[in-house]
Amino acid sequence: EVHGVVSFYHHFRSEAPGRHVLRLCRAEACQAMGARAIEAHVRRRLGIGYNETSADGRITLEPVYCLGNCACAPSAMLDEQVHGRLSLEAVDRLLDGCGEVA
Ligand code: FES
Repeated sequence: EVHGVVSFYHHFRSEAPGRHVLRLCRAEACQAMGARAIEAHVRRRLGIGYNETSADGRITLEPVYCLGNCACAPSAMLDEQVHGRLSLEAVDRLLDGCGEVA
């Protein structure tokens, strides 16, 4: 019963996340504005896929399907802060701010 609840709701976890959680929006507006390139860049840079944590334990990467920030797509949420109009450079600055080493 507990497993059913934990696995149904995305914000419940069965393992501790990294020090920071980066959620990349994968919904339509963000995809239309280049989210797939950002996603590929982040995954390559961190060396992880969705729902995984970087080897140094700093960043957990999660997908999200709309942050309500479509007008400023592509969007992401780092911890509790939403970021819009992301570029590869902007997402690099977010990752650098987490102390993540490229
Ligand atoms: S589609 Fe990405 S914020 Fe809405």
